[in-house]
Amino acid sequence: MENQYEVLHQECLSCQKCPLAQTRNHVVFGAGVSNAEVVFIGEGPGENEDLQGQPFVGRGGALLDKYLQAVDLSREKNIYITNMVKCRPPQNRDPHPDEVANCIGYLSRQLEIIRPKIIVCLGRIAANALIEKGFKVTKQHGQWFEKNGVFMMGTFHPAALLRNPHNKPDAFEDMLALQKKIREICDHTYDGTEL
Ligand code: URA
Repeated sequence: MENQYEVLHQECLSCQKCPLAQTRNHVVFGAGVSNAEVVFIGEGPGENEDLQGQPFVGRGGALLDKYLQAVDLSREKNIYITNMVKCRPPQNRDPHPDEVANCIGYLSRQLEIIRPKIIVCLGRIAANALIEKGFKVTKQHGQWFEKNGVFMMGTFHPAALLRNPHNKPDAFEDMLALQKKIREICDHTYDGTEL
């Protein structure tokens, strides 16, 4: 499994499948534990992520880490985080559908290797691609959708929470719903935590 993951990672690092390859500084493949039962999926790298090669390391990432910590989750300990596209769209624009289509093979293979029980979509782009077309985060956040035995939820993107802090209580409720679902269906996510 480690090996399969590393092979895929190396392949992705040299990807030239779409024009985003020309403007990137780093491919942002993903971060976290390889046996994660819970995977978070964002949209695409921003400026800080592109410079560092790691997902969610800017202001949004710091906010995400706080929400994770509140329910005993962290990328160092028990989850995995990645994005729909692995290279930064210029000026942080939404990734184009063809860029998502070119990149989704990497995500599918990451998920085949990690085999999570729960997927949390951070924001509209991931929720629309992975849960259902037309998914409205403000209306459908926190709801569970079961697909091929995997439980999926869409919630607010951390950058959207920085812009609209009034949604923070709803985002926190979603994390509590996630914590409940983890306790119901996960085997080892909360092993060794104080819960
Ligand atoms: N926004 C995302 O969607 N992903 C990141 O990795 C950083 C910011």
